[in-house]
Amino acid sequence: MMRLDKYLSDCGFGTRKEIKKIIKNEEVLVNGVRILSPSTLIQETDEVMVNNEVIHYQEFIYIMLNKPGGYISATEGNEPNVLDLIQEYYKGLFPVGRLDKDTEGLLLITNDGQLAHQLLSPKKHVEKEYIAKVDDALTEEEIERFKNGLEIDGYKCQEADIFLSNPFEYHVIIHEGKFHQIKRMFKALDKNVLYLKRIRMKNLLLDDSLEVGQYRYLTEEEIEDLKV
Ligand code: URA
Repeated sequence: MMRLDKYLSDCGFGTRKEIKKIIKNEEVLVNGVRILSPSTLIQETDEVMVNNEVIHYQEFIYIMLNKPGGYISATEGNEPNVLDLIQEYYKGLFPVGRLDKDTEGLLLITNDGQLAHQLLSPKKHVEKEYIAKVDDALTEEEIERFKNGLEIDGYKCQEADIFLSNPFEYHVIIHEGKFHQIKRMFKALDKNVLYLKRIRMKNLLLDDSLEVGQYRYLTEEEIEDLKV
């Protein structure tokens, strides 16, 4: 059992105050009956409708952010962080893994600790795909070295995949996530990454209709695909 306002807030209808207004001014039905009190207790199995639309209760929130540069992948501190970009408030949201402050692209933000753990566990070797713009082209031999697992500061990287997508622009696929990994891999070959963007994590692709700094909720299908 939970309060109707908590239920609606878990479903993304806003703050308690905003929800109070919705319940007062709009048509909120529970099992077909108009409810006017935010504290009404309901169950997850009850059918809740807001303005003729059935609401599906969501315990967890999954957000795809196209991270802009200038934001840190953290939930607090003095610097602008990625949660500052999310308009709605949900308890316990955090970014799944880290992108450097200047890195753009796909960042999953959720409060589902179990899924985050699965995606980040080194044992799972979850694929991450990046676009890296660099200051110098790689030779065939360097590409081979990249694929076979470069050494960065005494650490032997796992095998990676890399292909040229434009002059001075490479797609890189790695299965691990060491600190500054992509930048350090190129650095090991004496190249500098000038721009870095993540476009995929496992089978979740960055939605290219999202402008930098924009976000959207994952679809049911995307959530299911991430869990398999
Ligand atoms: N590799 C990096 O160097 N930076 C990132 O933000 C992600 C991967």
